[in-house]
Amino acid sequence: MFLTNPFAGAFGLDIGERSIKLVQLSRQRVLGHGTALKAELARSIALPSGYIVNGEVEQPEMVRQKLLTLLGKIGSLKPLRVPWVVALLPEQKTFLKTLELDIPPGEITAEDITFNAKKHLPFELEEYYLDWQIVHSENGRAERRSRVIVGASAKVLADAYTYLLESVGLSPLAFEIEACALVRALAALETESEAQVPQLFIDISATRSSLIIYAAGVPEFSVSANFSGELLTAILMRELKFDYAAAENYKIKSGLSYDKKYPRAFQALLPTVTDFIAEIKKTCSFYEDHSGNGEKIKQLVLSGGGANLLQLAETLERELKIPIATAAPGSGLLRAKKLSDFDPNDPGFSVAIGLARRAVENPLATTTRV
Ligand SMILES: Nc1ncnc2c1ncn2[C@@H]1O[C@H](COP(=O)(O)OP(=O)(O)OP(=O)(O)O)[C@@H](O)[C@H]1O
Ligand SMILES: [Mg+2]
Repeated sequence: MFLTNPFAGAFGLDIGERSIKLVQLSRQRVLGHGTALKAELARSIALPSGYIVNGEVEQPEMVRQKLLTLLGKIGSLKPLRVPWVVALLPEQKTFLKTLELDIPPGEITAEDITFNAKKHLPFELEEYYLDWQIVHSENGRAERRSRVIVGASAKVLADAYTYLLESVGLSPLAFEIEACALVRALAALETESEAQVPQLFIDISATRSSLIIYAAGVPEFSVSANFSGELLTAILMRELKFDYAAAENYKIKSGLSYDKKYPRAFQALLPTVTDFIAEIKKTCSFYEDHSGNGEKIKQLVLSGGGANLLQLAETLERELKIPIATAAPGSGLLRAKKLSDFDPNDPGFSVAIGLARRAVENPLATTTRV
């Protein structure tokens, strides 16, 4: 497969509201074991609030300077000379749906997908770009029906991101929506049978949470929840009269554990956590009531920097009575020597690693296998 990727060095770029993360993987031959993926580069740069808001690039020149710094085109980092990139589009302006079609995978046309997507996507398709992946099962049987993962992104937004990336010398090969990138990163760590079990992937970033139902090897749907690292920090600032840095430190040190010295902190965080748990329950129930196969969600996987919050996994497990795992998105990767400070267990890198996994294979492929 690696021989067919004409875009040598292509990398993943996770553009968020509070950071931009870059991961570059390569495929290496491993004596006696075929090939393995190696992390060549993993970088992150913080974005001050207000540069990108609700997915819109509000301060293009400021974001451009951050991108140039991350790419080593200005500043002290080693320059990355590859132009090929698989980039993230902001979740707020994208949409995901898995379609079941009565058409064998080999016979599907673009018109079939557009026609069927129209029935399910709640907006004018003319204003959106559609991208899709036909899911093939590995059992080798001739398939009469197809499953197609369809992603849609607002044209104005995708065009703005294309322009931004081209302005720093990059050539976007593909844009991806967060749910697809996350699922690729997390599913790659599971065995084939684990990946068949219905699960909820939860990504908690600085500004948002995404809840993604993953079942039978595909992302079924995703929703956003009002729970985020910044929200918790803001609550602590208000309750403890801390400045931003002190509140952030407190959050990282104490998380959701009860601290006798600051009993108000725990009390203040509790309603937000309770709302989050209710949102998770609602999402699981929605899937369980509508999937038609009576299957229950069997596992939750936490990802994003917020997954590190102390006592979060324990609290969710206690309340939801579902086993919880925390993502270690780089755990299966070899690591370049120069990447000594890259922590492969950092759940905040899940999305960037998911994008990089697409970049290192053929990024233009429109089929996927489960
Ligand atoms: N140990 C920790 N305990 C609690 N929160 C943490 C910890 N480590 C990181 N975080 C929080 O995780 C958040 C950053 O997560 P992540 O890197 O996924 O977000 P981001 O990609 O920068 O944000 P966005 O995608 O919204 O732009 C911050 O709010 C940070 O405070
Ligand atoms: Mg992010």
